[in-house]
Amino acid sequence: MSDTLKTNLKSITPARDWSRDSWQKFEALQQAKYDDGEALADAQARLATLPPLVTSWEILNLKEQIAEAQAGKRFFLQGGDCAEVFDECAPEIITNRLKVLLQMSLVMVHGMEMPVVRVGRFAGQYAKPRSDDFEVRGDVRLPSYRGDIVNAPAFEAEARRPDPERMIKAYARSAMSMNFVRALVDGGFADLHHPEYWDLGWVEHSPLAEQFHRIADSIGHSVRFMETVTGQTPGSVRRVDFFTSHEALHLHYEQALTRQVPRQWGWFNLSTHFPWIGMRTAAADGAHVEMFRGIRNPIGIKVGPGMSADWLKSLIRTLNPDDEPGRLVLIHRMGAGKVADTLPSLIEAVKATGSPVLWIADPMHGNTEKTESGYKTRRFANIQAELEQAFDIHAACGSRLGGVHLELTGENVTECIGGARELGEHDLKRAYKTTVDPRLNYEQALELSMLIVAKHQRLRG
Ligand code: PEP
Ligand code: CO
Repeated sequence: MSDTLKTNLKSITPARDWSRDSWQKFEALQQAKYDDGEALADAQARLATLPPLVTSWEILNLKEQIAEAQAGKRFFLQGGDCAEVFDECAPEIITNRLKVLLQMSLVMVHGMEMPVVRVGRFAGQYAKPRSDDFEVRGDVRLPSYRGDIVNAPAFEAEARRPDPERMIKAYARSAMSMNFVRALVDGGFADLHHPEYWDLGWVEHSPLAEQFHRIADSIGHSVRFMETVTGQTPGSVRRVDFFTSHEALHLHYEQALTRQVPRQWGWFNLSTHFPWIGMRTAAADGAHVEMFRGIRNPIGIKVGPGMSADWLKSLIRTLNPDDEPGRLVLIHRMGAGKVADTLPSLIEAVKATGSPVLWIADPMHGNTEKTESGYKTRRFANIQAELEQAFDIHAACGSRLGGVHLELTGENVTECIGGARELGEHDLKRAYKTTVDPRLNYEQALELSMLIVAKHQRLRG
């Protein structure tokens, strides 16, 4: 651990008047309404006895990496599905997602000449906020689908009934995904000597694949050069850190995995390294903020166009009262048409607090639209435009955009329009698979990482 962080940790005090169920005294938005309170309590009690999914050491290690990113020494890459689903807890899907994130991070490390913090939106991304509690089709009115941790998407009464057993299933799927990711990473999947392990079959002939291979070859040469010169292989060449994250929306689930650990003070949410608060549940006096206030994990806050400077400042005061480095990541998601108007005053307000934050951009959620044929989609051009503006706005305000938050998949889906292959509206029906939001496919994600690097290089001059 770095000396600065060690010193800083000493001055951090535990949250006062907080317990892991104190959130229940506050208004909790976006929660499932279970019809059987006993079954809920029983599932929650069983969950609370199961092993944690991550450890406090990993969490504190991530916090340190975020503190370094805040200091401009790392770039933060967070990505994965909008919503994981139980049926897709499958080896190819997990490896393909890992491959995309690894490739993107390699492009960034190479082009930005700095290490990347890799955070997956996976191993727990099972709860979704919805704009309405109910969905109506014809004369039928059923509870909305709130993610596989709550109910199932089929529009049938039984499928939509919130079932607390699904919390245990979500925990088990998270553990299986986590186990596989850990084994892959530890077993050499992320070895920089073998970037060919990360190739995705379906893009063999893509022009981007060629560009990626040139980058991978150049890194391979550098690695071999260093090994020849030093006569050693640094451990970090053979394995990379991977962290997990999800929207910590379902508070009964999060409570069951919030624990104390031996030889550490305070509480940790051990369901994930990096939980974030969604835009719809970020009320300063709401249950989610109360829950997050008492845990020691680094945390993300989604910052939408409706957030005022005062609201954001009060979140910072409540969630990081001691100005701890590495604690807060602000994820703005304004939309390409709104970012120029909404972001600068928030950046200035945060700067005025003097509290350290890492600003990252989510260029996905403010750019969702519906096509005439009824598909929820996002245009690559808008995603790119929001990102590029965000880089410029931060630079103009004397701040820094330190990372990105993306919805992506390693599958060959057609959910977002545009990109190098110029997917059009007519392509959407070909492979539209998401149950919630449209994701970048592999090629679009890799292309975006190259554009991010190019923008970063232009800014650096
Ligand atoms: C999400 O990240 O999937 C999401 C729902 O985002 P937001 O809270 O920013 O709308
Ligand atoms: Co989403």
